[in-house]
Amino acid sequence: MSSAWSWFVIVGTLGSLIVFAVLLFANRRTSGGEDTGHDYDGIKELDNPLPMWWVGMFVLTIVYAIGYLVWYPGLGNVQGTAGWTSLGQWQAEVDRHDERFAPIYARLAAMSPEELASDRVAQQVGRRLFLNHCSTCHGVTAQGGFGFPNLTDGEWIWDSGFDKVKHAVLNGRNGIMPPWGAALGDQGVADVTQYTLSLAGREHDAEAAQRGQAQYNTLCVACHGADGSGNPLLGAPNLTNDIWLYGGSADEIAFTIKNGRNGNMPSFADVLDEQKAHILAGYVTSLSQ
Ligand code: HEC
Ligand code: HEC
Repeated sequence: MSSAWSWFVIVGTLGSLIVFAVLLFANRRTSGGEDTGHDYDGIKELDNPLPMWWVGMFVLTIVYAIGYLVWYPGLGNVQGTAGWTSLGQWQAEVDRHDERFAPIYARLAAMSPEELASDRVAQQVGRRLFLNHCSTCHGVTAQGGFGFPNLTDGEWIWDSGFDKVKHAVLNGRNGIMPPWGAALGDQGVADVTQYTLSLAGREHDAEAAQRGQAQYNTLCVACHGADGSGNPLLGAPNLTNDIWLYGGSADEIAFTIKNGRNGNMPSFADVLDEQKAHILAGYVTSLSQ
């Protein structure tokens, strides 16, 4: 805190302690009991001395307060002789935690993907990590949602396998589908949409799809492939499995084609170390097996 606030606290705290002590000293009588002259319904008010046990306790609290303020940081920026800091206490707790869990992480991080999938502790730790870091986007059950891939269905945009999942965690994933509205025009978008539906084996307008196919073959093959099976190196999804990241209605597909999409999974390298990414990848891979 700034030194002005520090002095405000010091003066306020010591000042009130001194005022209490002076008040107590000023009222230090042992005899008395004079009539104050106040009389209410026949009950007289006497000016009795303070009870000694009470005065004794008051003195004790003042002595305790002084001892406490010397030992513990309570007076503004004065550190106290104990050397306690909130940061130090936090660090000590983190160190205790690390010491306790480091061997567990190290043991799990040495396991193969198969071992991770069948080990109860690995699954528990992996699930905790998933709930803390991934469930906000992929859902508590990892089944994803609009724009967030389902991690349990065995269909992978960026290819399957332990290493790919670990790569996603440590490096993030960014799928870039350019917008085609300007190049295709509204009619073109509608035609390519019908062709996309036909690729997925869905109901479609055959004539429009045929027109759309020509455009698909010039504009889309580079990423989604001639047969529509996608390209995991670019994160271009398979368009033939009828699984949709951005919705599978004709309107939603047309919207995707017209405006493009830019799905972005952040990298967790700053938050999760190599060991945790390993355990997490084991858990996520096991979800689709
Ligand atoms: C430069 C590569 C590239 C080209 C060219 C391309 N796409 Fe894509 N497309 C992608 C990527 C990458 C994604 C995934 C976007 C994401 O993850 O946010 C995608 C997503 C899609 C989707 C959404 C799939 C889903 O699961 O919801 C559709 C539909 C689609 N593209 C159709 C097309 C069509 C039709 C064309 C041609 C007009 C085309 N794409 C051209 C890369 C491309
Ligand atoms: C901020 C939201 C967000 C969080 C948090 C997040 N992801 Fe993702 N993740 C995404 C998006 C979006 C994609 C799809 C990227 C794209 O468009 O290709 C994705 C893709 C993936 C993929 C590739 C899926 C495929 O089909 O190939 C994996 C694996 C994955 N995430 C795992 C994880 C794990 C494990 C965590 C926890 C460490 C996590 N994600 C946390 C948003 C997120």
